Amino acid sequence: MKVIAIVGSIRKNSYNLQLAKHVQKRYAEQFEVEILDLAPLPMYNQDIELDAPQEVLDFKAKVKEADAVLWITPEYNSSIPGVLGNAIDWLSRVDRVMNGKPSIIMGSSMGILGSVKAQMHLRDILFAVGLNSPVLGGNEVYVGAVHEKFDAEGNLTDEKTIDFLDGVIENFQDSMKRYV
Ligand SMILES: Cc1cc2nc3c(=O)[nH]c(=O)nc-3n(C[C@H](O)[C@H](O)[C@H](O)COP(=O)(O)O)c2cc1C
Repeated sequence: MKVIAIVGSIRKNSYNLQLAKHVQKRYAEQFEVEILDLAPLPMYNQDIELDAPQEVLDFKAKVKEADAVLWITPEYNSSIPGVLGNAIDWLSRVDRVMNGKPSIIMGSSMGILGSVKAQMHLRDILFAVGLNSPVLGGNEVYVGAVHEKFDAEGNLTDEKTIDFLDGVIENFQDSMKRYV
């Protein structure tokens, strides 16, 4: 199984990127995770969507080939960050590569709520007609106070979070049996 991870932060030391790397490493024997970089994506513009830049075509092709998408996002101003919204806008148009493709959502923030509002909005967005992605339910991952849960080398050190993620990933793999 091949999973694409889309991280809603493009900063180098992003905690959400660190969370994506934790998933990539810890479950490497169960499935492959490729983390896509959103930084090279130009701003979505309907004028160019039929003749989209190569960066967009490459990004969409990776998503199209994947069995599932893992969204890992921080919360910006009580919603999803602009870079994530921009990527979603590209994915939602022309060939609609998310159509029917399963998603799982995770997120973290330094506050105690762990990006809950951003994730609520993201779930709603994934139900839009241009996305139409079935989102894994019953397994919500809100990593609050994230700066206390990773060490200086970017390793997740909080045992409770590690164990909780193990359970979520088991449920995710179980749910994927109907797709792959
Ligand atoms: C523009 C901006 C808006 C933010 N708004 C929120 C917010 O609404 N809720 C929240 O919990 N954290 C908010 N934060 C703090 C982020 O959760 C925190 O910076 C987090 O570490 C960003 O994720 P990253 O480490 O993956 O880049 C905001 C940060 C920025 C830069």
